[in-house]
Amino acid sequence: HKTREFDLYLSKVELSPDGYQRKIWSMNGSYPGPTIEVDKGDRVLIHVHNNLEEPTSIHVHGLYQRGTPWMDGVPFQTQCPIPNNYTFTYDFVVPDQSGTYWYHSHYISQYVDGMVAAFIIHDPEDPYLNDYDEELIVLITDWYHDESSILLNRYLSPASQGNEPVPNNGLINGKNNYNCEWAPNKSKCIEKSGYSKFTFETNKRYRIRIINTSGFSAFTFSIDDHEMEIIEVDGSLTRKLKVNRLPIHVGQRYSVLVTANVSPESNYWMRANFHKDCLPENTKHLTRTVKAIIHYKDSLSQQPDSEPVYSRSWDDNVDGCVDLDAKLLKPYNLEKIPDATRKIVLNIEFKEDENGIERAFVNGSSFVPNLKANNTLHNVISGSHEFGRNQNVFIYNNTQEVVDLVFINTDDGEHPFHLHGHKFWVLGWGNETMFPDYSKLNTIDAIQRDTSTIPPNGWSVIRFKPNNPGVFACHCHMECSINNIRTPGLWLTPKKSSLHARFTGNWEVNAGLFNYEIDDE
Ligand code: C2O
Repeated sequence: HKTREFDLYLSKVELSPDGYQRKIWSMNGSYPGPTIEVDKGDRVLIHVHNNLEEPTSIHVHGLYQRGTPWMDGVPFQTQCPIPNNYTFTYDFVVPDQSGTYWYHSHYISQYVDGMVAAFIIHDPEDPYLNDYDEELIVLITDWYHDESSILLNRYLSPASQGNEPVPNNGLINGKNNYNCEWAPNKSKCIEKSGYSKFTFETNKRYRIRIINTSGFSAFTFSIDDHEMEIIEVDGSLTRKLKVNRLPIHVGQRYSVLVTANVSPESNYWMRANFHKDCLPENTKHLTRTVKAIIHYKDSLSQQPDSEPVYSRSWDDNVDGCVDLDAKLLKPYNLEKIPDATRKIVLNIEFKEDENGIERAFVNGSSFVPNLKANNTLHNVISGSHEFGRNQNVFIYNNTQEVVDLVFINTDDGEHPFHLHGHKFWVLGWGNETMFPDYSKLNTIDAIQRDTSTIPPNGWSVIRFKPNNPGVFACHCHMECSINNIRTPGLWLTPKKSSLHARFTGNWEVNAGLFNYEIDDE
């Protein structure tokens, strides 16, 4: 196995992904940031050089970080934030997982301002290796022309009444056109700045890795005139499943196989449609289909960037706020799903806090981080029960446990929940009733993933083994919620008794010098 080293230089730069110029929190000067590709088993070193003029941290979404939970990149929970002008090195091994992941800032809402990129773990023994000739990466996101701090402040004021920020646009691999008529400041806007382009070659087979890096929005992904076959969700291989459209929520990933088998004498649209049912009311200045161009390089008549003329979209009537029906997805390797030993019900509701601000509550508490001493990790280690502000914390001392998390969502919006450090079986969800019908759960051949949607006014049940000692977050990945500004975390700390703190510095200024060790009893 190799050691792979990457340098990330973080700085704010002016860029115009969709023609509208704004300040972007960039990694190596670009948006999105550089793709990191490694092989299963590699040691990964990521040197983060912070020149953002504010603190930061980097989380690789979906990694187990087994044995290195302090490399999970959650500020105040697994490490101190990296201060401005400091370099911090993430150092971990990826021995036991492969597939499509992404990395992003986990500090407040920085990732919405640009700090996102793909993280791919190749497996030389991937059983689908012979099913494709080339790989493509597609990052989909909603896009905002205001900085996220402005959006968050606006959102977290009583006047917003809990209405989430409305995106100005969406991007595929950091590009899209924008109608400058809608821009408040036209001098900062360039019309037709251009779409992302992908090149196909007749009869070649592609593995397309699709990642939704949005701050808020779910999309339906499709490619005009081309069928797709799903082979991977969130790093878990599936049996092949043919689809024409693919719903994908924030934080989720899919790999699909696509064969370039239609006429090269046309260009084709790749589309990411905002889920219309999930958008707030006031979206009249939003183009609901985010597009990119596919061009066949053996075409005799088409230019690489001419807009597709003969491209036909798949019927888009099927739209909604839920994931692809997980019952259709089957794991590539069927593993027996163990019975649950513990069931935890998590009630998600939205209501005003004492300041009249609409917040998310999980089991009656809404987490607001105390950025000083009262942080989660410190408290877990010291045995204090004051976790931030009423944080939900679940402690496991027995790695043989099997836990069902039963989410009950009384909100009229869906919530894509992400569990750090683990994958979970998606046993089922529904919204015909508020409470699950346990007899209808799939405990035979459910897929495993790390991010899954709870429908509006509905429920979902996920099952996982808390067998990875460390402090791991579980949160809604909508950016109003991440970093625990709205939705509290769920923090898993197996073997609490064997966590030892090792402080080697001043909490506030010394990045990464806070560490903890785990004894394997
Ligand atoms: Cu994608 Cu807590 O992260």
